[in-house]
Amino acid sequence: MIKGDTVHLRPFGLEDLDFLLRWNNDPEYSGMFEPLEPVSQEELEEWLPREKPGQLWYIIGSLDGEKVGQIVGRYQDDGSVQIGYRIIPSARGRSYCTEAARTLVTHLFASGVEWIVAEVNPRNTPSIRVLEKLGFKKIEYKERPVEINGIWLDGVVYELRGG
Ligand SMILES: CC(C)(COP(=O)(O)OP(=O)(O)OC[C@H]1O[C@@H](n2cnc3c(N)ncnc32)[C@H](O)[C@@H]1OP(=O)(O)O)[C@@H](O)C(=O)NCCC(=O)NCCS
Repeated sequence: MIKGDTVHLRPFGLEDLDFLLRWNNDPEYSGMFEPLEPVSQEELEEWLPREKPGQLWYIIGSLDGEKVGQIVGRYQDDGSVQIGYRIIPSARGRSYCTEAARTLVTHLFASGVEWIVAEVNPRNTPSIRVLEKLGFKKIEYKERPVEINGIWLDGVVYELRGG
């Protein structure tokens, strides 16, 4: 468990099956700029207990124990860690994502990671605000790297360097 000031991050476990089944099949959770990747109970039961080398998967919990979303990281070949996040619709706008990302970033830098990146759609204002509030800087514009419902969307890469 990684403790932040207003949230904690707990690695995915089998106890999160209902939460992940409920929300990862809901297009409102993935939002307009992220593909929905439906998942079945059988897939989750098989995947959740497995080792996930190079991957960080955390449930975001409020201090009163409510599960409010998820934040993930993936170690990449270039030495960076790419992060991504989702908050359930009813908990948005309460700084949970900002605090979860701040907590993960602080933890990663303390563990020796020096370079963190995130890729967002240029129209995803809430996600861009989260990154800007943490000091991420825009480094690259990618034309049409993501397809959602047959529409190709642009992406912007942001980075935060440690030290
Ligand atoms: C992006 C997301 C995770 C943000 O979660 P959140 O907990 O609501 O974020 P926070 O409350 O920490 O901060 C959101 C910021 O965006 C702002 N914001 C929220 N909705 C907004 C809107 N429609 N227009 C402009 N700004 C908006 C908030 O005001 C806040 O900024 P502020 O502190 O400067 O006021 C959430 O919207 C979400 O799950 N979206 C769907 C999935 C997604 O897009 N994930 C990111 C993929 S890169």
